[in-house]
Parts: sequence; C-alpha cells; structure tokens
Amino acid sequence: MQNILITGASRGIGLGLAKAYLESGARVHAVVRNTDSPALHQLQQDHPEHFNLIACDLNQPEAPQRIAAALGEQLLDIAVFNAGVMGPQHQDVGQASSEEIAHLFLTNAIAPVHLAQQLANRVTKGGVLAFMSSQMGSVALARSAEMPLYGASKAALNSLLRSWSQADDRPQASLLTLHPGWVRTDMGGSDADLDVATSAAGLVATIASQLGANSCLFLDYQQQPLAW
Ligand SMILES: NC(=O)c1ccc[n+]([C@@H]2O[C@H](COP(=O)([O-])OP(=O)(O)OC[C@H]3O[C@@H](n4cnc5c(N)ncnc54)[C@H](OP(=O)(O)O)[C@@H]3O)[C@@H](O)[C@H]2O)c1
Repeated sequence: MQNILITGASRGIGLGLAKAYLESGARVHAVVRNTDSPALHQLQQDHPEHFNLIACDLNQPEAPQRIAAALGEQLLDIAVFNAGVMGPQHQDVGQASSEEIAHLFLTNAIAPVHLAQQLANRVTKGGVLAFMSSQMGSVALARSAEMPLYGASKAALNSLLRSWSQADDRPQASLLTLHPGWVRTDMGGSDADLDVATSAAGLVATIASQLGANSCLFLDYQQQPLAW
C-alpha cells in the first residue's frame, strides 16, 4: 500500500488530493492546521484505517519535528507539499509590509522546502517529493503580472527545488514542482477553469508518472513540462 503525505489538506486542492489517494486505496497522512472540519470528519469516517490526521501549522519552527513524530516509523512513497497562500490582496511591492512578505515567502517557499529536507530520509528510494507551485512561478513564461508577489514566492520555491536537485544531499527521489491548473477553490475563485476533482486526478497521474524516475521537473497537471 502506498503511503502519501499531503500538507494543506483541509480544503481546496489538498483535500481533493487526499480524497483521490484514499479512493485509490492509499494511506494518507494529512497535515492540517485545524482538524475540526466536516470534510475531514467524513474522510475519517469513510477511511478509518487509512486516514491519519496530523495537526500542525507549517510555519511554526517545530513543524518538521511534529510531523516526523506523528509519522512514527512510517516511510512515505509520495510527499505533496501543497499548502500555500496568495499573499496580500494588493500584490504591490511598494505597499507590502515586512510581515506580509515574510509570511508569503515563508509559507510558499522556505517552510515547504525545509520540511521536505527534514523528511527526505523517510521517502522511499524512487519516490516523489512534489511541491504545489504555479505557472505564475515561471520566470520564463512571465504570467504573474497581475500577482507579482505571489509569482515571486513560487519562483523562489522553484529555485530552491532546482538548487536542492544539484546538492549532495538530494534525495534519491523525484523532485517536482507542479502547476495544478486554474482551479475553483478559495484561492482560485469561482471563475476558474477546473473543478478540484479534475485537477487532483491529473496531479495524481502526473506524480505517478515520475515514480522511479529521480527527475527534477516543473510539470502541469496534464504532465506537460513548463519552462522554469
Ligand atoms: N487554485 C488555483 O487555481 C491554484 C493555481 C496554482 C497554484 N495553486 C497552489 O495550489 C496550492 C493549493 O491551493 P488551493 O487553491 O487549494 O488553496 P486554498 O483553497 O486557499 O487552500 C490552501 C491550503 O493551504 C493551507 N495552509 C496555508 N498556510 C498554512 C500553514 N501555515 N500551515 C498549514 N496549512 C496551511 C490551508 O489551511 P487552512 O484551511 O488552515 O487555512 C489550506 O488547506 C497552493 O500552494 C496554491 O498556491 C493553486
């Protein structure tokens, strides 16, 4: 049975991924800030043996230790670092406070990579560490004109991943940054192209395609490579 870690599984794409993996028969370790949600209770009821809820704010310094302790001896086939924020509504470099910038870059780039580095020795050889990025993180495609701060935080995530892929301590696993499509969630809004289930199904297939590949790729939910 596959063991999957998903961060930010309380709602949106993370919740959709948790559902998709549980329905495929995998065991899901879901990291959420608040475990008290009807959707999470339902998953626990439907999959009591296979659903492990881990309560943790990922921006707290002790997050890696808490999650490692909650996993016990359990190894992971796939870890999906999905939690993210959009940053300040104004998206303006000139207006942004130090606190807004620190929160955005910590949540979207530093905390997920730090957590992944702390958990990497639990990911099985040939497994996948996948990070929820965005096409707005592509410097080459330049698609973040309307959301420059958010785009910069995802570009930072992509850059940290590529640096890690070149380092001596890179795990013997695939390192992926993923674009989930434009998805109808609290972040994506109601006008977005895709429902959560379609994006999640595509992401699950995209991640599966990189098991055993030890690659470092920027892919969309339809397995198409994106320019860095
Ligand atoms: N939706 C899109 O169109 C789209 C497009 C490109 C990329 N993405 C990326 O896909 C990922 C998921 O997006 P989404 O649309 O599902 O967003 P969402 O509906 O806003 O959900 C965000 C998730 O991240 C969690 N989270 C944020 N900060 C956290 C923290 N410090 N500790 C623990 N959990 C935290 C939230 O938990 P709480 O419930 O506790 O707040 C929530 O579960 C994000 O990384 C986003 O940037 C989304």
